[in-house]
Amino acid sequence: MTVTPDLLDKIATDLYLSPDFSDLHIEQAMHEHSVPQLLTALGSAKHVLELGYGNGILTEFLLSMGIQPEIVEGSPLLCGQIQERHGNSVICHEALFAEFSPPRPYEAVFALYILEHVDCPRTFLQQAAEWVAPGGLFFAAVPNRNSLHRRLAIHMGIQEKLQDLSSRDHAVGHQRVYDLPTLRSDLTAAGLTPVQEMGFFLKPLPNSMMLDYPPALIAALNKVGEGLPPELMANIAIMARRDTTPTTTVPTTVPTVPNGAGDHATVPRRKPATATTTTLSEQSVSIKPSQSSSEPSAHATASHSPCSFEDFRRMACDRSLDENEKIDDPLHTREGKEEAIFADILTKALADCPPGGRIVEIGPGCGRLPQLLLQHCVAAKQQLTLVDSAEMLALLPSPQGIRKVAGCFPQGKAALSHQIGQVDLVLAYSLAHYIVAHADIWAFCDAALSLLAPGGRLLIGDIPSLSKRERFLASAAGAAFHRAHYGDRPLPRRLQQNPAKDETKPDGIDDSLVFALLQRGHAVGIDAYLLPQPPHLPMANRRVDLLFCRP
Ligand SMILES: C[S@@+](CC[C@H](N)C(=O)[O-])C[C@H]1O[C@@H](n2cnc3c(N)ncnc32)[C@H](O)[C@@H]1O
Repeated sequence: MTVTPDLLDKIATDLYLSPDFSDLHIEQAMHEHSVPQLLTALGSAKHVLELGYGNGILTEFLLSMGIQPEIVEGSPLLCGQIQERHGNSVICHEALFAEFSPPRPYEAVFALYILEHVDCPRTFLQQAAEWVAPGGLFFAAVPNRNSLHRRLAIHMGIQEKLQDLSSRDHAVGHQRVYDLPTLRSDLTAAGLTPVQEMGFFLKPLPNSMMLDYPPALIAALNKVGEGLPPELMANIAIMARRDTTPTTTVPTTVPTVPNGAGDHATVPRRKPATATTTTLSEQSVSIKPSQSSSEPSAHATASHSPCSFEDFRRMACDRSLDENEKIDDPLHTREGKEEAIFADILTKALADCPPGGRIVEIGPGCGRLPQLLLQHCVAAKQQLTLVDSAEMLALLPSPQGIRKVAGCFPQGKAALSHQIGQVDLVLAYSLAHYIVAHADIWAFCDAALSLLAPGGRLLIGDIPSLSKRERFLASAAGAAFHRAHYGDRPLPRRLQQNPAKDETKPDGIDDSLVFALLQRGHAVGIDAYLLPQPPHLPMANRRVDLLFCRP
């Protein structure tokens, strides 16, 4: 779509300057509620640029704070409005963004509800990031594809996929809808480091179905959103800082490994079929309500293999996947339980890591867990190193003091050589079954153990154990669980015939492997323990944790 002043005038006439745009009051209430929240992070910045004038609410708030904003606006009609409403109290640059070249960089740049409109958001962000002074702030706000109203719309049959654009989206010129990981990664790619994430407006339904909601209800939906996860809100925002120095990302060799047989084959997953580096196909995940990756399936050993490191890399780049899908949890089994999982990791290992201590997480992925770990480490001033693919790491924030090492552990361990024997906690969560299927679990375990300082701990957590699952299913509780989810379907039998199975690979992880891993630690003088997960964790009936403690 070619953006011209005429097109911008048309959108302005239809939207911002039209009293007839029927859902204007809903959008306006959202802006009036959210802009002050964004501005609390502005600090003492005075030299501020707004990208686009829109409905003028941000301008009004900035003026009320004694800030004389500059605005770059491509619609001649809106520029006229700015002049009429604010006279000389603001500076208006009449220009398309692509043509704009500011005289000097700003302390803060606001790109509110812009990125969903532009043709190439990444190119645009590269350019706009240059308009921020080093160390300055960049605010981006966009509609959220994971908003509650979109999730509900799928179940109501109003839209097919979360990323589908509605007729309203088309009417107002939206070209895409973001989620937090995508926004994060686009900002990071432009040299902007995300420092704060926000979400605004708990929107249960499309605007068109809320037109007669009383103002008090609209206000309450804005207010109630303040305490809820940004992922659920209608709009999301990230405040990012322009880097003063580049991020430390150490590229290492990433081997391509063959696929093998795996454990949790019940989960329908969008996974690349070939080894191309392009994005994944558009086929949709078919999620049956009765299926969940925490449930035992009659077919659990037969149908497909766990993701390889390469698969994860491609999933990290696939914009059609949300952050759970990118880490192979397409059914959102963990959603809402991440805090409980993190609390368990804290109790088992993290709480003993001293302030200022060293932590290495192998395979953090891009979900809520590494976010919680990052927050924890920043607060405790612990030195955290994250090891994963560059693509996955780009989806995580980079607060100061956090080191990212891009590569497939242990191949990339050269980048960690100075940490051998120095680390207080090594964490590898929900990772072991992928390593067993595609790499050498012994080399992985040895390399992870070699990092431990005296008193240090290695937690290889969330290991799916076929033996534990079978013991559970043999119990009365397990049989009831299976009946509740699968009715009369037969219980899973691990050794059932599977002609596609690679005989050289284990079916998955069973007691023999779990106990051998414990012994691997003992063999090098390290204590090792097999620990259960608390029953309220989503996979507790089939997963175990291994804790290694160097005396
Ligand atoms: C299932 S996700 C788990 C993410 C996170 N630990 C969690 O529990 O939320 C697995 C992650 O491990 C990464 N990974 C897989 N093999 C790896 C390896 N050998 N070295 C580093 N990262 C690896 C993948 O890229 C992916 O991000």
